[in-house]
Amino acid sequence: MTKRMQTRVALAAVLAMAGTLGFSQSTGETLYKAKCQMCHGAKGLADTPAAKAMKVKPITDPEVKGFTEAKMIEAVRDGMGKMQPYKDKLTAAQMKDVVVYFRTFLK
Ligand code: HEC
Repeated sequence: MTKRMQTRVALAAVLAMAGTLGFSQSTGETLYKAKCQMCHGAKGLADTPAAKAMKVKPITDPEVKGFTEAKMIEAVRDGMGKMQPYKDKLTAAQMKDVVVYFRTFLK
């Protein structure tokens, strides 16, 4: 392997890690954009085609607004409606981070 290729491989590894583990506080945001946005919308408004197809409720819906943080984490962990469970895909910390980010749309 040439030196330049090694550098590139190392850089790719760092970027991949930053994407999954997250070195910054924006882990929740990164996760949300990668895994949730297509169904819940950029601002949680469920305004994407996938959201409409799956009847995802916007975060502004009274029913969703009434969800506590713990209840949302539970929905993500165990799945809800057509949403798959994330318990085998995300760590408890990641589920919390992503829900905390999701809830910023409530404000
Ligand atoms: C394949 C589409 C899809 C993806 C991807 C998805 N969801 Fe959902 N989500 C749904 C559906 C459908 C429901 C249940 C219907 C509803 O009440 O909105 C739901 C429900 C929820 C709820 C319960 C409150 C609510 O809005 O009804 C939360 C919280 C939630 N999702 C968060 C997430 C998070 C966080 C992610 C990313 C890790 C995610 N979802 C990824 C489709 C999806």
